[in-house]
This record gives sequence, C-alpha cells and structure tokens, in this order.
Amino acid sequence: MQQAVFVTDIGKPLTLGTRAIPEPKEGEVQIKVLSTLLAPHDTYGLDLGLFIGERLPFILGTNIAGTITSAPPTSPFNNGDLVFGLGDPLHPTPDMSGLQQYALLNAESSAKIPEGFTPDEMVTFPVNATTSFAALFDMKGFGFPAPLPFPQPTESKELQGFNAKKTTILVIGGGSAVGKLAIQLAKLAGIGNIITIASSSRTEELKQLGASHIVDRHATPEAIQAEIREIVRGEGLRYIYDCVSWDHEFSISLLAEKGEGVLLTLHPAEKAQEVAKKLRPEARVQFILGTAAFIQPHAKAFWDALPTWVKEGNLNVGKVRVVEGLDLKAIEEALAGFRDGSAVVPGAVHPNCA
Ligand SMILES: NC(=O)c1ccc[n+]([C@@H]2O[C@H](COP(=O)([O-])OP(=O)(O)OC[C@H]3O[C@@H](n4cnc5c(N)ncnc54)[C@H](OP(=O)(O)O)[C@@H]3O)[C@@H](O)[C@H]2O)c1
Repeated sequence: MQQAVFVTDIGKPLTLGTRAIPEPKEGEVQIKVLSTLLAPHDTYGLDLGLFIGERLPFILGTNIAGTITSAPPTSPFNNGDLVFGLGDPLHPTPDMSGLQQYALLNAESSAKIPEGFTPDEMVTFPVNATTSFAALFDMKGFGFPAPLPFPQPTESKELQGFNAKKTTILVIGGGSAVGKLAIQLAKLAGIGNIITIASSSRTEELKQLGASHIVDRHATPEAIQAEIREIVRGEGLRYIYDCVSWDHEFSISLLAEKGEGVLLTLHPAEKAQEVAKKLRPEARVQFILGTAAFIQPHAKAFWDALPTWVKEGNLNVGKVRVVEGLDLKAIEEALAGFRDGSAVVPGAVHPNCA
C-alpha cells in the first residue's frame, strides 16, 4: 500500500489515505513519484470537479517526475531511470495522478530527465508544453509546421504558401506558464512576429523568450486594441492563442474582420463560438486540451524532442516552490494560489518525503 491525497468530495478539503500501488500494463511504467507540479486545472478539479466528474475519490497532479520502479520487458525505459511525463486526469482510475507515492505513466508520454536537470525543473513541462505544442502545431490548433522530424501537415488550406517568418501571432497571457511556452515554441518554429498581452513588468523576460512586442495587459481594452492595430499596421490578426481568458469577446474583436482567423482558447469554447458566429463569422474558435490524445499522432515525436529542446535552452524551466511530503495544508495553499489568476509560483509536491 502507499499514501495518497484524495479529492473525496468536490469543493471539500482534501483527505490523506492509502491505496494499492498500481501495476503497469504494456505501454506503461510504474514510477516512484519524486515531484508532481500542481496546476490551475487541479484547483478547478477540487473546486468544480473538472476532469473528475463522478470518479470520486480521485487524485490530482498531472505533471509527474520520478524514478522507474517497474517497466514491462518491452518498455523503452529501465528500472532506475529518472523520467518526467504527462499523467492522465481522464484515466478511469487515479493511477496516472501525481499526488501519491507511486503512479503510472504512459511510456509514450514520458521521457528521461536530461542530465543536469532535476525532477522539480522537468515537472514544469508536461501539461503546459503539451498544450502549447497542440495550439501551435496540431491541425486542430494553428497547424503550423512543427520543428520536429515528422511529416508536416499538408491538408491545411491555411498553410498554402505559409511563411513562418512573415507570420504574426498574438499570445494573450504571455506571462502565464503556457503563454511563455507558446512564445518559446513559436520562436523555435521561426514565427517572425510574436505579439503578447502581459504585464509590462515582464517585458524583458518575454522578449528574452522570443516575444517581439509586449502589450500591457493592464491598459484599457481600447488602448490594447489600438496598440495591436498599430503593430499590425491596421491589419486584423489571423492567429490568436488566448491562454487566460474565460470570456472571449475581447479576443474575438482582435481577429481580422475578413478571412479565416483562428482563436484558440484553453477554456471551454462554446460561448466563444457563439460570439464569433456573430462578430467574425469566417473565424474558427477551438478549445485546446493538453492531453496526449489531443496531439496524436505526434505525442511520441513531441516527447522525443522535448528533453532536447530543454537541454539546448530552447525551452526554459519554470520556477517552483517545493512542498515536502503529502502535507495537506501546504497542498491546499498551493491550490488556492490559482483561484484569482494572479502570478503564483506553483507548488511541486514531493510525495515521498516525510
Ligand atoms: N486546456 C488545457 O489543457 C489547459 C492546459 C494548461 C493550462 N490551462 C489553463 O490556462 C490557464 C493558464 O495556466 P498556467 O498554468 O499557465 O497559469 P499561470 O502560470 O498561473 O498564469 C498566471 C499568469 O497569467 C497571467 N494572466 C492572468 N490573467 C491575465 C489576463 N487577463 N491577461 C493577460 N495575462 C493574464 C498573469 O501574467 P502577468 O504576470 O503577465 O500579469 C499571471 O502571472 C489556466 O486557466 C489553466 O487552467 C488549460
């Protein structure tokens, strides 16, 4: 048996309990969890039941790093390998969740931790890098040619005559973890003009990552619109990735009035699609989900490339604050930090430390 932190009731405090150590099937590995990074969707899971639904009791934690303790003979990994990977909050059981001492990962959505990096650094990537990879390179996202050795999408009309250098994207919420990864991935893909709406205090940081223009998110909507219009010389935007908004009217208003604009959102898009029908009937609004299923068939190629991108300095690790042990009070505090959308240093929990 092992210790785990459970969501037993939606909206109620977490509880500490025990459960059996899950055994890996073909394609999976069992890991001793050294670090699991809490993210906003964990807070929405606890508060609103996001992803959990009726599957109570459930366990939070989708960003997972640890040591392999059991791998089927056909696995690309060996016992003792230090890996990081994407858990699965939609798995029928909580086996692929991080707030427990031992968890399972899909081998295809995991990679070895590159030399010189720690589990706490590498857990900053799984969900957020998958999400921004999906937004930029999946055909349900912008469908840009990915900086990866897999066949590039050809079916997209949008990409006929595509020229990365001449392409402009807007990342709304460039100061968020997903936003920063989007800026870095866009730079890696050679996108020539990366505009972002973020706090002006982040100007230097985001320019370093690859942003060309930082528009202050604390300005009035009219001032933001005017500044963006000036940057794009009066043309509307064709590619907008909104990492932070729940209400998309403003984002939609920034899309080009004519042509096939694309707005990608990380929050449910039904309402945004309704608004877009009225304001920008030719535009496409798409909800992006940072899961392995969403980026198929490219999940393996992505996970093969991710450690190299980090090692070569193309993607920066995020900051974390460590929570030692399955300390319910400290975990609740870390989750509470995401409730108002302000800047927080996310908590990396070490389930195996007392
Ligand atoms: N659909 C999915 O699969 C998926 C995956 C990952 C994340 N998400 C969602 O994406 C959102 C961001 O996640 P995260 O982990 O990256 O969050 P985070 O790092 O905690 O983001 C916090 C930052 O967001 C920025 N921000 C907040 N409100 C903003 C606004 N109105 N305009 C511009 N910037 C704003 C602030 O940046 P400044 O410091 O610049 O003010 C703040 O520092 C969350 O709601 C999360 O649930 C969804």
